[in-house]
Amino acid sequence: MEHKQLDQFPTNFLWGSASAAYQVEGAWQEDGKGVSVWDEFVRIPGKTFKGTNGDVAVDHYHRYKEDVALMKEQGLKAYRFSVAWTRIFPNGRGEINQKGLQFYIDLVDELIDNQIEPVLTLYHWDLPQALQDEYQGWESRKIVEDFTNYAATLFEALRGKVKYWVSLNEQNIFISHGYLMASHPPAVSDPKRMYQANHYANLANAAVIKKFHEMDMPGQIGPSFAYGPNYALDSDPKNVLAAEDAEDLNAHFWMDVYLFGKYPIAAMKMLKEQGLAPTMEAGDEELLAAGKPDFLGINYYQTNTVVFNPLDGVGMGKMNTTGEKGSTEESGLPGVFKRVENPFVERTNWDWEIDPEGLRIGLRRIASRYRIPVLITENGLGEYDKLTEDKEIHDDYRIDYLNSHVHAIKEAITDGVEVLGYCTWSYTDLLSWLNGYQKRYGFVYVEQDENQNGTLNRYKKDSFYWYQKVISENGANV
Ligand code: BG6
Repeated sequence: MEHKQLDQFPTNFLWGSASAAYQVEGAWQEDGKGVSVWDEFVRIPGKTFKGTNGDVAVDHYHRYKEDVALMKEQGLKAYRFSVAWTRIFPNGRGEINQKGLQFYIDLVDELIDNQIEPVLTLYHWDLPQALQDEYQGWESRKIVEDFTNYAATLFEALRGKVKYWVSLNEQNIFISHGYLMASHPPAVSDPKRMYQANHYANLANAAVIKKFHEMDMPGQIGPSFAYGPNYALDSDPKNVLAAEDAEDLNAHFWMDVYLFGKYPIAAMKMLKEQGLAPTMEAGDEELLAAGKPDFLGINYYQTNTVVFNPLDGVGMGKMNTTGEKGSTEESGLPGVFKRVENPFVERTNWDWEIDPEGLRIGLRRIASRYRIPVLITENGLGEYDKLTEDKEIHDDYRIDYLNSHVHAIKEAITDGVEVLGYCTWSYTDLLSWLNGYQKRYGFVYVEQDENQNGTLNRYKKDSFYWYQKVISENGANV
């Protein structure tokens, strides 16, 4: 629909930006930190782009005050970051590592002192290796208790200071990459194991949300889901059904569990027929239903256009992790759907489709299916950036990307969707898990290359000033 006039953003709208511990902190062995599955995985040859790792990352652990000062200068209202579980409990449980906890207390205090709302993610993929070794991490029910205990420790320590909590970041991504595509730790490729691990992650998510409410925590909690709304390529009913199936298997399969406490009907029936459905125990359904989030976090980057894919059709293909445009392989689920290029949108150098309207469509779908407020916890453009001799970065392509997405949010708000805030990905440049340091997302450029050579100095990009203006006007002129 087209509106004669767009609504304004709410006055308390959280104009934010985001990061994750492994991607920014570095200091991987400092102050008693334990080893995470990512600390180990990056050391396996061939797993990440040019062997890049987060040992130093962008050294946020030592430079957080400088980074927060830049946020303050920009006028940022919220900063989303994640806690490294291994800093709090080096072995996943047991005695608290006070120095690790203190880092986050100091970071939160620094943010609050600068009038920036902390948005804390409990889990952004860096599982303690000790739990992986002991009981295979997400493949065991034991993870539920350990994750809840870790979360409760942070709830207690940061009660009243942190008002927005994200439980799991992109469960759909770390589970599918970790247990099907074998591109994240523990690099398994087994759908049966994937659906079981996913079920335990659902239980852990629900248990932590339930705990938050039982502890009467001030504030709100919800998971962040990586939502790429699915489109049919055309009106061929076969392709329309393929898109419905993709929406069921790629989106409702997680969001329905978060919001309804139940798996979607057709997807679950198919998995049962294929012998892939997770084993559930007595009490699981009750727990899922009891862990209802207060908001839904959405990480939005692109949409997914599909056509029907026959039973002998294409399976999983490789992603483009090099930045060589057009190198993404064909990919699909035999008997259900396969992904095709959307002829109406542009693509980035990593073949991600640029589709701001898709964000509005996604927000609309969530609002009508789940009737829950949304916090956009990630959205951004990963591209090559160039530092000029004058130490400037003219990232007009990023400004265009972000501006069009903010506009789409404004339209969704005018449609009636309740949006709490918008966190861009990312604040500073950082390590892109599989794509190295060359795929940059930040408002703040960090000088370093794939070999981690560079000063690690920070430089403000043109997009930094663009967002500064958007925030100061509360989005009025977008
Ligand atoms: C999300 C993650 O999947 O997308 C981030 O939550 C990640 O951690 C971001 O960095 C961008 O993905 P990528 O692969 O380009 O780094």
